[in-house]
Amino acid sequence: MTDTTRDFLIAPSILSADFARLGAEVDDVLASGADIIHFDVMDNHYVPNLTIGPMLCEALRKHGVSAPIDAHLMVRPVDRLIGDFIDAGASYITFHPEASDHIDRSLQLIRDAGCRAGLVFNPATPLSYLDYVMDKVDMILLMSVNPGFGGQSFIPGTLDKLREARRRIDASGRPIRLEIDGGVKVDNIAEIARAGADTFVAGSAVFKARNEADPHRYDSVIREFRDQLARA
Ligand code: DX5
Ligand code: ZN
Repeated sequence: MTDTTRDFLIAPSILSADFARLGAEVDDVLASGADIIHFDVMDNHYVPNLTIGPMLCEALRKHGVSAPIDAHLMVRPVDRLIGDFIDAGASYITFHPEASDHIDRSLQLIRDAGCRAGLVFNPATPLSYLDYVMDKVDMILLMSVNPGFGGQSFIPGTLDKLREARRRIDASGRPIRLEIDGGVKVDNIAEIARAGADTFVAGSAVFKARNEADPHRYDSVIREFRDQLARA
């Protein structure tokens, strides 16, 4: 991608953090230069894993986290939890179109509450779900792994899909963020940025890379991400 004016945001996924000390982990990763906290919500129904819910999102806000919280809902049904995450202080709320019977309504629920709304596309889910809602999304999230677990490998076919999503966003003229989630590492983030992404979720790559000198910091890996992005 040649648009060098695009701003890049790094969104560590706390799925790979130490849950026993989550508040401190979030503080540490933000102090290390992260922009957004990616919050993976799994229900053991839509995806085969069970993680965290709105109470923990609210607890992070009460702990003092003021950075944007990006709630990625891998749940079915979605509408009830959308309400709960609005109340819990989420900034972005994204959901999978297959998991909502009324996609337009779910997007509207999020927007009406003043939160930013997004749709998430699994590797085999077509972007055509966007056809009639480009004016109702603030974020498009492409999954580059099948959802449910951290630590999987990036699916290369997602690069073409990113280019297509970027074309759609540019054609719309709207300030929609293009987020990528799954298998993002220091050695592929530049290529992912060139394909059009501007918001990068990274779970295992960040939380497995504590600074050796200071175990409360993750700034070396975040700096490496930014160095790669500066060259993208
Ligand atoms: C997977 C989650 C991801 C996951 C990414 O379903 O949506 O956010 O935490 O983890 P890594 O970066 O390890 O692939
Ligand atoms: Zn996610």
